[in-house]
Amino acid sequence: MKLISIVGARPQIIKAAAVSRATLEHNTKRSGDAISEIIVHTGQHYDENMSEVFFEELDIPEPDYNLGVGSASHGQQTGKMLQKIEAVLIKERPDCCLVYGDTNSTLAGALAAVKLHIPVVHVEAGLRSFNRKMPEEINRVVTDHISELLFCPTQTAVDNLKKEGISRGVHRVGDVMYDCILFYAKRAKPVEQKVLERLAIQSKSYYLTTVHRAENADDNVRLTNIFEALNEIATADCPVVLPLHPRTVKCVQKLGFDFSNCVRVIQPVSYLEMIALENNALMILTDSGGVQKEAYWLNVPCITLRNETEWVETVESGWNILAGADKQRIIESVRCRHRRQDVSPESIYGNGKAAERICNILHWLQTQAESIF
Ligand code: UD1
Ligand code: UDP
Repeated sequence: MKLISIVGARPQIIKAAAVSRATLEHNTKRSGDAISEIIVHTGQHYDENMSEVFFEELDIPEPDYNLGVGSASHGQQTGKMLQKIEAVLIKERPDCCLVYGDTNSTLAGALAAVKLHIPVVHVEAGLRSFNRKMPEEINRVVTDHISELLFCPTQTAVDNLKKEGISRGVHRVGDVMYDCILFYAKRAKPVEQKVLERLAIQSKSYYLTTVHRAENADDNVRLTNIFEALNEIATADCPVVLPLHPRTVKCVQKLGFDFSNCVRVIQPVSYLEMIALENNALMILTDSGGVQKEAYWLNVPCITLRNETEWVETVESGWNILAGADKQRIIESVRCRHRRQDVSPESIYGNGKAAERICNILHWLQTQAESIF
């Protein structure tokens, strides 16, 4: 079987790492029935610390194609990707096309494939924020509705799809990001001391923050509120560490915001460094989807700088508080105690074998008389 994986943005490279690893393991076990994976990088993220570092650190094979699309408006970026992915699909004629998550690279990959009658396989299907102003929500809804196979991380995702009339091809396999954290957490251990020393911070004596969501970065009022809250909570004994996404760096430059000396703005870090920083943080404040879940998996209390989340289980468990971009609410949420219910992550996100399940299902489907491939 020949599959094409389309990646482009940081979290997709991490998700694809789980599938690539599972594919290689599958091939070792069933050498006569190999899955050959071709990796296409759209080039949506291109800075070394937003892309290459993940391929190196997570042992992902070099992309077979780098389309070098880069940054642009939604229409231009998606349009360029569509054109370039189509050319690769026509040349390679894969049995199916895997897309991950909810970025413009996901949408472009799915659209290019479905129009060529190549089955679309959506990894991390069924997530919804129910906020159509989010570009990611549009990408998710469209991708799910044109996918042949929908691999869901949670039961909520399966239920969301059912409400939209999608039940054929839906499989609850677990979360590939949970696979990643279980697998790479051991490798992150030796990194912990180094990164804490480099940043001159102590374990459980700093807040870790990420902000990149368009609704925050592109809105001066929301961004100022969030940053003012960070200035307020950061102290010399408990600083805020802020690995800043390049999108937000540009917004801060335009805004001309002055961070207090206790807010340490740093470059984006590698995945292992990020897990190490998350694991040692006193608390995490974020608008990232992936980071919310990682906080939950690592038992670190989380405050989400959004009005809603797709990862509702983290909030229902009491471990994640939705504070939006309301300065006062963010400060109060930091000071209140999170009360975590005792729910095993396995019962929500699977047992760390989501990618293995994906490979097994793809392999099994190909052997069926009425194969979709
Ligand atoms: C994208 C995804 C978002 C995801 C995020 C992960 C869409 C619509 N959004 O948002 O869902 O959560 O990736 O990080 O697909 N830039 C650089 N260097 C880079 C990449 C980006 O400088 O390597 C800057 C550019 O100015 C660019 C801006 O960041 O215009 C935004 O990048 P883009 O990929 O369009 O969106 P993200 O905010 O990264
Ligand atoms: N991440 C990272 N370095 C950073 C910030 C985030 O490795 O400096 C990782 C993080 O651990 C998670 C993923 O990137 O696995 C989340 O990506 P991001 O926040 O960019 O996107 P989202 O999940 O919101 O789509």
